[in-house]
Amino acid sequence: MAEQIKRPRGTTDWYGKEGVLLEEVKDLFLHEASLYGASYVELPVFEESHLFHRTVGESSDIVRKETFDLVSKGDKDYTLRPEFTAGVNRLIIENKLYASPDLPLRYSYFGPVFRYERPQSGRLRQFYQYGVEFLDNKIDIDTTLDAFLLSIRSTKKALNRDCRAKINYLGSFESRENYKKALRGYFEPIIDTMCDDCKNRLQTNPLRILDCKVPEDQEIAKGAPRVRDYLSEDDRKDFENICRKLDENGIDYEIDDGLVRGLDYYTGLVWEIYDATNPSFPALGGGGKYSSLMRQIGGPDFEGIGFSLGVDRIILCMSQERKDELTQGHSVDVMIIDQKKDGDAARIGEKLRNLDVSVTIASLAKAMGGAFKMADRLGAKYVIISGEDGLQLKDLAQREQKSVTEEELIEFFGSK
Ligand code: HAM
Repeated sequence: MAEQIKRPRGTTDWYGKEGVLLEEVKDLFLHEASLYGASYVELPVFEESHLFHRTVGESSDIVRKETFDLVSKGDKDYTLRPEFTAGVNRLIIENKLYASPDLPLRYSYFGPVFRYERPQSGRLRQFYQYGVEFLDNKIDIDTTLDAFLLSIRSTKKALNRDCRAKINYLGSFESRENYKKALRGYFEPIIDTMCDDCKNRLQTNPLRILDCKVPEDQEIAKGAPRVRDYLSEDDRKDFENICRKLDENGIDYEIDDGLVRGLDYYTGLVWEIYDATNPSFPALGGGGKYSSLMRQIGGPDFEGIGFSLGVDRIILCMSQERKDELTQGHSVDVMIIDQKKDGDAARIGEKLRNLDVSVTIASLAKAMGGAFKMADRLGAKYVIISGEDGLQLKDLAQREQKSVTEEELIEFFGSK
């Protein structure tokens, strides 16, 4: 026998009820985004590699070791998208959408992204992200709050329970450079006691040391200088203002000085969302403001703010009850059994589908009993039997069966 081919490590097959669930969650998220005026964009799954190098950042783990780089047949290098933000900004520049008088631009997205990580529960190599990007000449406080509130609302709606938000403020690139210097000064004398990743991070991006998951390193990081102490006066005021507005909106959040995010483009508010009932589970989503991303890829001085939720992680955190709730009503309406075995079922099925009734047809090889069991498992409400002596309509809930003409059948389903 030929060797069995398996799906690649760190990927998921979505099928059966889980397939329906993914579709439902997509609809739910995009509906929430539309409530904030966001319109849906669909982008290529791969982009020119330097789009991600220039935005996500050379020093980020994502670009340093997690991108899927394609072997190209032409002279350009391509990479499977590890996230959406860079792509949305590329779209805006390429189509000159920044010239629109209707600002802020608000876009939503949903689709697979790819990161070459070590697979484990909730950490995949192909996973789904849903998110939005809001863009304007300057991101104002209302747009900031809208982006933040939508991220919380979407998570809560999907899980049907509470979530927790951690926030921080990263400031301009200049203040970040000063902060990095201070971190290097703090970690340099003790770096030999820390993990190899941290040793590398000291050179590439000392901010990422604060994000290390090794408990001993986390302990050391607790004594490090705080980013807050390196913010400009304007940044400090901006952060205070955002916190005040969140308080006024009754939004629960926690300021986390160690929250630095894994992508290099942030300048300003950053946040991450966690499951309130399972706080040790990795982040369900994250986002923040970025001021120079568009300029870095040849666009105008435009700012953006956005977030992405990890759809796979959110689905992992959903209770079975919530999953059932979202997928209920996803059964087929009618099943036809073609006793004459002459293909008439497909013709009748088509007429019913014109009336927006969903129809499946039992395999001709199936015995009557087996076909009825299948109808039951698929949740069909009616079975139609097309036999030598005409049509029979069976209402499975009422357990009633009657002979009908084709016209009566059409009339019956047409009036439903
Ligand atoms: P991120 O924090 O890299 O942000 O990813 C967002 C979410 O994607 C994470 O919070 C997590 O739920 C999910 N995620 C990340 N890696 C994996 C993985 N290996 N397996 C499963 N889920 C994962 C971004 O991607 C930014 N583009 C967010 C953003 C939008 N910032 C501004 N606008």
